[in-house]
Amino acid sequence: MSIEESVEESTARGQLFDVERVLAGLTLEEKASLLSGLDFWTTQPVVRDGAAESAVAVPGVMVTDGPHGLRKQADSPDHLGLGHSVPATCFPTAVTLGSTWDPALVRRVGEALGRETRANDVAVLLGPGINIKRSPLNGRNFEYLSEDPVIAGELGAALVAGVQSQGVGTSLKHFAANNQEADRMRVSADVDERTLREIYLAGFERVVKRAQPWTVMCSYNKINDVYASQNHWLLTEVLRDEWGFEGLVMSDWGAVRDRVAAVAAGLDLEMPASGGRTDAEVVAAVRDGRLDEAVVDVAARRVLHLVARSLPALDAPGAYDVDAHHALAREAAAAGTVLLKNAPVVEASLVELVETSPSLDKLDHRAAEPLLPLASGDGVAVVGELARTPRYQGAGSSQVNPTRLDDALTALRAATGADVPFAAGYTVDGADLGSGTDEAALRAEAVEVARAAGTVLVFLGLPASYESEGFDREHMDLPAGQVALLEAVAAVSQRVVVVLANGSAVSVEPWQHLAPAVVEGWLGGQAGGSGVVDVLLGAVNPAGRLAETLPLRLADNPSYGNFPGELGHVRYGEGVLVGYRWYDARQAGVAYPFGHGLSYTTFAYEGVAAEVLGSAAGADDVPAVRVRVTVTNTGERAGAEVVQVYVGDPAAQVFRPERELKAFAKVELAPGEARELTFDLTARDLSYWHPVLRRWVVEGGEFVVSVGASSRDLRGSATVVVDGDDVRLPLAELSTVAEAIDHPAVGPRIDALVHGGAVADDMLSMIGDMPLAVVADFGLAGLTRADLKQILSDANA
Ligand code: BGC
Repeated sequence: MSIEESVEESTARGQLFDVERVLAGLTLEEKASLLSGLDFWTTQPVVRDGAAESAVAVPGVMVTDGPHGLRKQADSPDHLGLGHSVPATCFPTAVTLGSTWDPALVRRVGEALGRETRANDVAVLLGPGINIKRSPLNGRNFEYLSEDPVIAGELGAALVAGVQSQGVGTSLKHFAANNQEADRMRVSADVDERTLREIYLAGFERVVKRAQPWTVMCSYNKINDVYASQNHWLLTEVLRDEWGFEGLVMSDWGAVRDRVAAVAAGLDLEMPASGGRTDAEVVAAVRDGRLDEAVVDVAARRVLHLVARSLPALDAPGAYDVDAHHALAREAAAAGTVLLKNAPVVEASLVELVETSPSLDKLDHRAAEPLLPLASGDGVAVVGELARTPRYQGAGSSQVNPTRLDDALTALRAATGADVPFAAGYTVDGADLGSGTDEAALRAEAVEVARAAGTVLVFLGLPASYESEGFDREHMDLPAGQVALLEAVAAVSQRVVVVLANGSAVSVEPWQHLAPAVVEGWLGGQAGGSGVVDVLLGAVNPAGRLAETLPLRLADNPSYGNFPGELGHVRYGEGVLVGYRWYDARQAGVAYPFGHGLSYTTFAYEGVAAEVLGSAAGADDVPAVRVRVTVTNTGERAGAEVVQVYVGDPAAQVFRPERELKAFAKVELAPGEARELTFDLTARDLSYWHPVLRRWVVEGGEFVVSVGASSRDLRGSATVVVDGDDVRLPLAELSTVAEAIDHPAVGPRIDALVHGGAVADDMLSMIGDMPLAVVADFGLAGLTRADLKQILSDANA
């Protein structure tokens, strides 16, 4: 709903709230007061003369966390953690939602979040968070969707559209370059503009343009030495002037250092309350001429618009269906579960048969079956405390007080009707073991349970103390005790399935050879336990895909050595080579590539083709290349495949990643069913940010379009030749000879001078990189300063 429509609607309800009329009637002090919070969670009302309702000139509205569920603190607000927050559905965290690669599903989750927000009289839900996962160590990666801006942008836009369809707002956060928790309130993210534009801002741009979030939340950190909260370039020039953002910018909680500079930069609302201190600073700055009152009016008007568009929903909060939302949370948890590995296991009895029968000299590997899906609960045992005490969300401001909580052990027993034996195997976060027992005893008990079982599900993961908002991890490893448990179990069983619960990538290399099957359940929300069981049993065919690369080692990660920075600065030295862009450019091994995820069925890709639709000059949002592929479900089960389209630009003035995700689709196919998919890539999809011209450009020429099931599992590719932009820089005195030869107007003249015999042969290979002015000063090639002046004027005419 547009601002105008929402005002109309509230007017229709008899709540006449005409923003311009209200604004015109406010004093400077009142307008300044609108620009900061009343308390932790509400905007300041303007109340005049008394307590009667009619005395409220401007009502305050409530905003509250968070991305995957509502954290409304009904009383004793404490900013972080559960602190008496109302029960709300804890949907899967962003890491799980990101792995669904399913905008339609994420939109439905958004709608449900919107219903809960509305039902609780909250105007704005503080999410989604779409920062790029630059390092697996970021303690808050669980709150973010992907290492790739297309995934973050597509799914972020879907979530925003879903929430806002319910008449409440979102806050897209944390804008921008907030990719770590260490020193997050001060650190300067030192990052070049091309990298910002292509990686760290691109997701925000997509969400803003597609879904117009009601609000954007600026981040705590600085970007190239300027706090995001007072960064005019970021908050006004890029966000509003370029992208057309129409909503309000609020600060992250406590992110404002200089309130007057922040207002001037375009930060409308400071949160939480400043106790009136910064309101007075704003008034003083206007009075002494440092700040134009018109700038205060602009910010106050945006707060009033936010209030106006919030009123209809606040008037009619409605209710939501707790059971239906739990079911949706379960569906989303299963959809975001990634089957990393499901290797065939040869039955031990068969091995023995072959070894003891002289007539059989070879093992027939067709006899080998993967462990998953489980046929039933018979013979299955569960090991690992996390199966009973699930880790389903991360700590910090996003922590939701769930309406109920499923654990995998109970869900498995209920779904199979089997009396599945269980042993804890380890404790989580130093839980009290009581006297007479220790971790070794827990392990020994688990080994006995595993020994007696046909198949052992080993639940492993990161305890809450390992990752959270507010600090980063120091390593990617699972707790040593859990790995020791796996080793002990694997020593007595070949049929081991590892089920993981963690908010960011963990290293799997040290232990994954011990388990033929590995399932990544991430932090799946309140129904994560039942959702993962749906996948284990095959009730849901796994269709989650990695939205972040799982590296072999932490040291392989592109930010290694530049994370989390030092002395107040973090250098984004890897540039645009973030995540798979880095591993693919270096052809480096990974544990599991971006986009990876197995299914219980198989898919064939045929007929990958690409055709040019039109010129790509201008790098606009117009269709430039149409890609086609036919995907067939070649297995025996229905299932969904995530078809991924990558683009590479092999020859460009700047170094470009080997391939970049530009489009994807999740397609549900019955056994044997085939479907042709088409993807229209826009000119912008082919472009890069030109660091000198400071705009998006498409360098005409060849582009390679690849279609596949992961960034490393490409099933077909096609090459297209596209018309693009003229990206040559104006010729100048310091342009090189090679650049001048390349110039259409004057190139032949320079070429004739250089190759006309005036330059000695042994100089020819050196002269290409020589600036024209130096050539003239050296008197080479007969070029004089006067010639050069003429050549430059002809070239740039
Ligand atoms: C977090 C935000 C959150 C806000 C309000 C901040 O510390 O960074 O994501 O929305 O607190 O709780």
